[in-house]
Amino acid sequence: MDAAPRLPVDRLLDDPGTRIIVCCGAGGVGKTTTAAALGVRAAERGRKVVVLTIDPARRLAQSMGIDSLDNTPRRVKGVDGADGGELHAMMLDMKRTFDEIVEGHADAERAGAILANPFYQSLSAGFAGTQEYMAMEKLGQLRARDDWDLIVVDTPPSRSALDFLDAPKRLGSFLDGKFIRVLMAPAKVGGRAGMKFLNVGMSLMTGTLSKLMGASLLKDVQTFVAAMDTMFGGFRTRADATFRLLQAPGTAFLVVAAPEPDALREAAYFVERLAAEDMPLAGLVLNRVHGSGAEQLSAERALAAAENLEEGGIVDQEPGNAGLRDPAAEADAADGGARDGGAEADADTDVHVDGDADVDADVDEITAGLLRLHAERMQVIAREQRTRDRFTSLHPEVAVAEVAALPGDVHDLAGLRAIGERLAAGVPAGA
Ligand SMILES: Nc1ncnc2c1ncn2[C@@H]1O[C@H](COP(=O)(O)OP(=O)(O)OP(=O)(O)O)[C@@H](O)[C@H]1O
Ligand SMILES: [Mg+2]
Repeated sequence: MDAAPRLPVDRLLDDPGTRIIVCCGAGGVGKTTTAAALGVRAAERGRKVVVLTIDPARRLAQSMGIDSLDNTPRRVKGVDGADGGELHAMMLDMKRTFDEIVEGHADAERAGAILANPFYQSLSAGFAGTQEYMAMEKLGQLRARDDWDLIVVDTPPSRSALDFLDAPKRLGSFLDGKFIRVLMAPAKVGGRAGMKFLNVGMSLMTGTLSKLMGASLLKDVQTFVAAMDTMFGGFRTRADATFRLLQAPGTAFLVVAAPEPDALREAAYFVERLAAEDMPLAGLVLNRVHGSGAEQLSAERALAAAENLEEGGIVDQEPGNAGLRDPAAEADAADGGARDGGAEADADTDVHVDGDADVDADVDEITAGLLRLHAERMQVIAREQRTRDRFTSLHPEVAVAEVAALPGDVHDLAGLRAIGERLAAGVPAGA
């Protein structure tokens, strides 16, 4: 099958026209890692970059100097690019961002009342979609400051990549919802004569609520909701503005996914959704792809060689044989195995004295074990390749970068650089 076009990561990072990169994907696939790695790489290639991370792992945040939450970008030490490239990073403090919106949209007295309202305090972080909305809000703020020539955005750890696009609308429709209208009604229609009869209905309603909740609690809810309502037009307008920002030509979406069927099915939905929303997709990052430094040795041949060693040698023979070790017999067996099977591994067995036969047998066993591991790895690689091919046949236009699974977590600048190099190379190391 035809290979997918390779994602030109460095071209994307170097292009002054690229102003926003959004890293989307399902939970745990490597969005935060990818966003941070792209930030480091772009800065070191000379751009003035800010990375907006969401819930970064503690050690990663520490290594970037952003382990304290103050909701503003900080310069990352240790990243100095050519031509004045700089990396700034922050992690999103959702609650603080919400507070800032309140402060920015209500007069000081009213803002104070909202912020002190117990409902605001407990609910502001809990609305479905708040985190996604706040990430968009923060993106809008960073873009408006115009201090950076590239903004790399991480997205919240949602179940589905689509949540990032859906959540702000969901939050909007919550704020627009019936429950809120009902609670709002006394405050809103109270002064309007023409609405008298409606007001009576609402009073009955809130009368019931007040019995249920207690009058002072209800008053808290109503104050909160009324205050939210004054900002609510603002919410909508801004969510719309950010949506347009995401559709702008300077924006590039990257979908991050693991090379697994469910993940790629999900990525395919997301790709289709972006197209439907007119949002520019740059490509797919296949993260944690397995590779091997010895792909010339197929799974079949590795397995055959392992069997050969095991049959010819004394490895994995009938339990009786392995248990009762007669050094002379073992030497014969190992020797015979090497000759019969034509395996190179033990070609020197016959020059060994009896005592070394044990060692050779161990070497055979370990070698066979390694060959089996290699065979398994090759099967994983083949499975991932098939999964990837299925995606590519569905969306042949989508450029792909493959990033190898590193042996450990990515928690420092060196790790991020290593990911960045793999992103730019687009093929897993060793492939
Ligand atoms: N290519 C890789 N090789 C090795 N480890 C990786 C790789 N990519 C990511 N990781 C590790 O996987 C874990 C999850 O990555 P990350 O936090 O970037 O995912 P995420 O998509 O942001 O998750 P969430 O949805 O929870 O926000 C981290 O510990 C990270 O260090
Ligand atoms: Mg994350």
